[in-house]
Amino acid sequence: MIPEYLVSFSPDALPSEEVDCLIIGCGIAGLRAAVELDGLKVLIACKNDPFDGCTYHAQGGIAAALLPPDSPEIHFSDTINAGCFLNDEEATRILVNEGVERVKELIDWGCKFDKKGKNLDFTKEAAHSFPRILHARGDATGKEIIHALLTKIGQIPGIILRGKFFLIDLVCEDETVKGGLFYDIASESLLIVKAKKIIVASGGSGQIYQETTNPVTITGDLQAAAFRKGALLGDMEFYQFHPTTLYMAGVPRFLISESVRGEGAILVNIYGERFMRNYHPDMELAPRDVVSRAIVCEMRRTNSNCVYLDMRKLKSDFIISRFPQIYNFCLKYGLDITKDLIPVRPSAHYAMGGIVTDIFGKTILENLFACGEVACTGVHGANRLASNSLLEGLVFGARAGKKARDEISTMKKDSHSKISSFRVKKHNGPFIDIYDLQRSIKSLMWRNVGIERDAGSLGEAMQKLDAWGKYIFLNEFFSPTGWEVQNMFILSLVMTHAALSRQESRGAHFRKDFPEPNEKWKKRQMFNKHFFNSLKERK
Ligand code: SIN
Repeated sequence: MIPEYLVSFSPDALPSEEVDCLIIGCGIAGLRAAVELDGLKVLIACKNDPFDGCTYHAQGGIAAALLPPDSPEIHFSDTINAGCFLNDEEATRILVNEGVERVKELIDWGCKFDKKGKNLDFTKEAAHSFPRILHARGDATGKEIIHALLTKIGQIPGIILRGKFFLIDLVCEDETVKGGLFYDIASESLLIVKAKKIIVASGGSGQIYQETTNPVTITGDLQAAAFRKGALLGDMEFYQFHPTTLYMAGVPRFLISESVRGEGAILVNIYGERFMRNYHPDMELAPRDVVSRAIVCEMRRTNSNCVYLDMRKLKSDFIISRFPQIYNFCLKYGLDITKDLIPVRPSAHYAMGGIVTDIFGKTILENLFACGEVACTGVHGANRLASNSLLEGLVFGARAGKKARDEISTMKKDSHSKISSFRVKKHNGPFIDIYDLQRSIKSLMWRNVGIERDAGSLGEAMQKLDAWGKYIFLNEFFSPTGWEVQNMFILSLVMTHAALSRQESRGAHFRKDFPEPNEKWKKRQMFNKHFFNSLKERK
């Protein structure tokens, strides 16, 4: 059974704080939402710090149709094509139209995107009809955006940012979210933050996979916390694998940006053959899912554990100035990308699915908003178009912040109601080696619910998860790792079930036993915890 809370707590015995708006997550979506809350008391809480999230590490860039002959309409059709027509059209139109204004605003706030001469320098990435990707500091776009937004936030007096602040659970009564139960990592103590509105912007869940580009903190905690309270998770079978992650023993799985291929790098197999010509007319710039599967196929065919990116046709000076971060990272491990081939293979990168929201970031739970990768507005459909994720954070972060602000302005002055205590049922479960379970979940998801899946692999994953589900919630943990693994378990369960149900291939969801799309499946799947609890009762 999926529990309501992971730990027992008694609000009267805990320190508490009150704010108008609690934002969880300090990437592009959370910070952009905060800008809209000027004049209110706002706490931005993050598990680590703003320099450790997916936004900060984002390399490639942000897509926006700023200049003709490109247009938001063309950006819209590229997004829908990449998403295999499963996108929510209204949300996607908002993304591409409002995206133009939001990016210009970011530039006005001091974000310096790279220029060629006096003009902005746009790169082309896979499945985009035009070069429309803005980048900064060469390949460190996320750093520039975070610095620009932190500077902007720094000018707004009511906003406080607190790091190393782990959200264990959303506190909720009658499907109304009242705040968050936090673990302060520095003081190792619990604390309650009461808020009139709560905006979740905590990023994805890449760490549920063994191989991922995501930082170690990205374990899907808020998706799971919202699910425990009755929120819907949607599009969970669609998980994007980035084709090119550096693959060297002992080296962190560092992303090699798609823009490297956008600037002309090619992919070759261990025999030096440019294999993408056998898979797609757009070769290296085919959609991400196509390139990822082609690499897996090629690795299998040639019995190798990686393929190579070849940048050697590009001028050394250009490589070093356009990709300084990638160049320097690889050099630390003895790889000179101006001369050497880069060993790469796919890894988990981005969740198209998440907490279902409307176009204002509102979830089905009263007072709870979600934006950015943690949310599922439906803009990405079955497969995200490259560089649309920063844009999504910017556009829907602003929308969620605005809506929360409007709603707060109509609430009574003292709307912080009382929060009841909660006792987790004591089961005296057996000792669990939580690190072993963490490794098991990650490798199960990678092997069985990865780039290619079928009824056999997914069925086996379900059986294993069912078995682990018998004991994972028996004990109360008192450590972030324990809570993270419980959260990873919940997400793995929903993703596996969603992938097993969808008997077709579409976008990032590739079923070896149903390799083609099926019109009957041109629909989205959403689940809440009651569905899973009733499955359990029936077993
Ligand atoms: C990349 O730079 O390849 C990643 C950008 C993205 O995921 O959109």
